[in-house]
Amino acid sequence: MALIGVFDSGVGGLSVLDEALRQLPQHDYIYLADSANAPYGEKSSDWIAKRSLTLCGYLASKGCDAIVVACNTATAEAIKQIRETLSIPIIGVEPGIKPAAMQSQNNIVGVLATETTLKSDKFNALLNTLPNDCQFIRQAGAGLVPLIESGNADSEETLELLAKHLEPIQDAGADTLVLGCTHYPFLRKGIRKLLGESITLIDTSEAVVRQLKRQLENLQEVIPTVQHGAVLFLSSKNEESLLMMAQDLMSADLTSHAVEARILGEMR
Ligand code: DGL
Repeated sequence: MALIGVFDSGVGGLSVLDEALRQLPQHDYIYLADSANAPYGEKSSDWIAKRSLTLCGYLASKGCDAIVVACNTATAEAIKQIRETLSIPIIGVEPGIKPAAMQSQNNIVGVLATETTLKSDKFNALLNTLPNDCQFIRQAGAGLVPLIESGNADSEETLELLAKHLEPIQDAGADTLVLGCTHYPFLRKGIRKLLGESITLIDTSEAVVRQLKRQLENLQEVIPTVQHGAVLFLSSKNEESLLMMAQDLMSADLTSHAVEARILGEMR
């Protein structure tokens, strides 16, 4: 079985880990949350690139066979460097604007992501590959990540801020919304409350994990097993609170895995 590293600025990547545990429960995982430094979306490109490279290097040094950079912002700013530096498969996440353009009926798509992701060369290069008959309403979700990090994904304050950010998307009549930050799937309830049931929400976790699965199949023979692997949660801020948030936010049954939480002391 493989050891897989999953890295995010904080708890957002738990949405990707959740899907990984659903599709690939037999593997062992290290989930690394750099919550002491979240949100990354408000940091400089250089800082994000350097920090992401350091933390992915740390995961590789712990024996990870593959790493999922479960952060759109870190992927946009650092994936190239990480891939150039480390010799294991590195899977990134990107706002799902391509599937959104394909699924939208009225060709009006909202994209909610961090300012850094929306401004990045990588995102804009991806945008340029799509036909221009689709209109993308881009909106930075300033302030949402800290609220989710502090365990307030479902609070009234979050709903109010979300309503403000979603207004231009709603006014434009978008029928599809891209969740362009891995923290945002945890706002699904609020988004549905504000935009209704009919809007299509695009979250790329499932596709990202399928990509991870393909990479693992290239690396090693996959032996079918009913066993569930171990999950180690590492936080640069507070390991107890990371574990509590994982139990609260994820739908995976963590009791069927050997779970441990530790502070990321050496990398703070
Ligand atoms: N989960 C990160 C992302 O997907 C959050 C970015 C942040 O920390 O600002 O972009």
